[in-house]
Amino acid sequence: MCGIVGYLGTAKAVPVLVSELKCLEYRGYDSAGVAVIEEGRLRVLKAAGKLANLESLLRTENAYATVGIGHTRWATHGAPTDKNAHPHTDSEGQIAVVHNGIIENYRDLKDELISKGCKFASDTDTEVVAHLVSTYYHEDNDMLKAVMTAVRRLKGIYALAIMNVEEPDTIYAVNHHYSLTVGLGDNESFLASDSLAYRQYTNQMVRLDQSEIAVITKNGVRLYGFDGAEASRPPTASDVNAFVADKGQFKHFLHKEISEQPVVLRQTLTKYMPDVNKPVLLRKADTASSGSAPSAGISLTNMQLRGIERIQVVACGTAYHASLIGKYIIEELTSIPVEVEIASECRGRKLLVNERTLTIAVSQSGETADTLAALKDAKSRGSFTLGITNRADSHLAHLTSNLIITQCGIEVSVAATKTYVAQLVSFYLLAMFLAEERDAVDPGRLLELKKGLMLIPTLQEKILGQEEEIRQAANKYKSVQDVVFMGRGFNYPTALEGALKLKELSYIHASGYAAGELKHGPIAVLDEKVPVITILVPGKVYEKTLSNAQEAKARNAQMICVSVEGDQNVHHTFDTILTIPPVDEFLSPLLAVVPLQLFSYFIAEALGKDVDQPRNLAKSVTVE
Ligand code: AGP
Repeated sequence: MCGIVGYLGTAKAVPVLVSELKCLEYRGYDSAGVAVIEEGRLRVLKAAGKLANLESLLRTENAYATVGIGHTRWATHGAPTDKNAHPHTDSEGQIAVVHNGIIENYRDLKDELISKGCKFASDTDTEVVAHLVSTYYHEDNDMLKAVMTAVRRLKGIYALAIMNVEEPDTIYAVNHHYSLTVGLGDNESFLASDSLAYRQYTNQMVRLDQSEIAVITKNGVRLYGFDGAEASRPPTASDVNAFVADKGQFKHFLHKEISEQPVVLRQTLTKYMPDVNKPVLLRKADTASSGSAPSAGISLTNMQLRGIERIQVVACGTAYHASLIGKYIIEELTSIPVEVEIASECRGRKLLVNERTLTIAVSQSGETADTLAALKDAKSRGSFTLGITNRADSHLAHLTSNLIITQCGIEVSVAATKTYVAQLVSFYLLAMFLAEERDAVDPGRLLELKKGLMLIPTLQEKILGQEEEIRQAANKYKSVQDVVFMGRGFNYPTALEGALKLKELSYIHASGYAAGELKHGPIAVLDEKVPVITILVPGKVYEKTLSNAQEAKARNAQMICVSVEGDQNVHHTFDTILTIPPVDEFLSPLLAVVPLQLFSYFIAEALGKDVDQPRNLAKSVTVE
């Protein structure tokens, strides 16, 4: 949920640190700060609010140091203020720390340190680390030992970067079940939560293991376990393309990423289904890299796949909504029972999984703590595992040998759009792959669906061509306070996703319901002030969904629908009609979500909201 960066080399550190932080703002933007060492002095410069506030501060400071650490924060302990911004230091201003994650036992440690005379300046859990390292360092002036002793006392999952003013050519980094990578350049080294940050400087990287300490200088890195044992691993090439934070002709990344969805689908389909007359290409290639870098594909054997009796999916937020649709898709094509769990609800539960279960973790970032924890728990109980992620170098990608890597490129906007559609298409591909491996579906039906899937990008482009109509419709509703979304079957999760998009982009309260559920209570909220958005697609549940909409209309709700072009039944019931091209109900979620994404975007834009970085949010939720 926060971003850690570091730099050691021959260039001025501050401009490099700021360029790295710009690439990590997606991880949180409540405050930002840097610490550098100059002429034996530790300089800490930090500011609440967006990175731009720190940049303004730095312009007034002529920092010329060539070593430093930086941080962009999503607040967990302590309000997003200057004093709680990272970096944090010990009382003497000798040790500086930036932190990602949570120190669960910080309260006890803080009390102990205060009793020893430490003076705390912030409300954060992080500051405890600075005082703890300082305390142990002053015992025998051995920084590695001090860091090792300190981290052995910490509970929780976290990543740290630490500097000691007495060692101006070294950064100490600690990873404990988190994500931290070291970039290796020519006579310079980098540190970052995500290799995206330094990809513009180097693509050679070393990923820290689950409980590991890195001692970084400009000439390289040494790795140690928490037990002191030294480790050695060759650098790998980061799979991240040089990151260009470029909106092109768009005003917001969100609008650009919604518009990229047809391209993303074509790239994903071309990679995994280049020929509809042949099996889906999800099996891992024999030539897949045997090194530590993860590679796309499924390594489970046909016998293992045939032996799967149950599938469990764990995910959060938008990925959870995609997974709910994935359930319907997989069950329809393979008859394998699928359970979808909100990953955070798996904590402390007895997960009923075993060696005949396939547990699928869905996470575009591959760093969501709740999802990772649920997958690790399932794995420990003997379940087969599979990951669907947009980041091949993520924590998730290193946790399983069965991977579907979506082809979205980096999604900058905090609200997920193109990665959602890519997760959906990954479920279609996976369901078809499983059906083929298990001979579970009529080949003719499968071919029909594959051909239909190949047409989706073009159909999405037709919807994108209606932007102006959708913008005009959206503007009619920008002042409402509450909105209800509803759908049935494949598009019940579409309603949930539509509601989430409106909430997180415009801050308007919205709820998504199974259309049949409205009459069991939620219908009480309806009156002339409440718009109801219904996803209405010809298929098995069309008539019942239309009836549910008429029940809402009878309560004077403002009626909006997403329906297919040419549907003559909708004009009597709905005031506003957003259309999609005719499509098989089975494939309709790939289209129905697009008008809802644009609807929410245009409302948020009209309200002047911070579309790409909504308040209180972060792109990657790496705390539980
Ligand atoms: C969706 O718009 C949000 N950004 C959020 O719900 C997100 O989908 C969720 O945090 C899961 O993220 P992940 O896919 O990176 O695991």
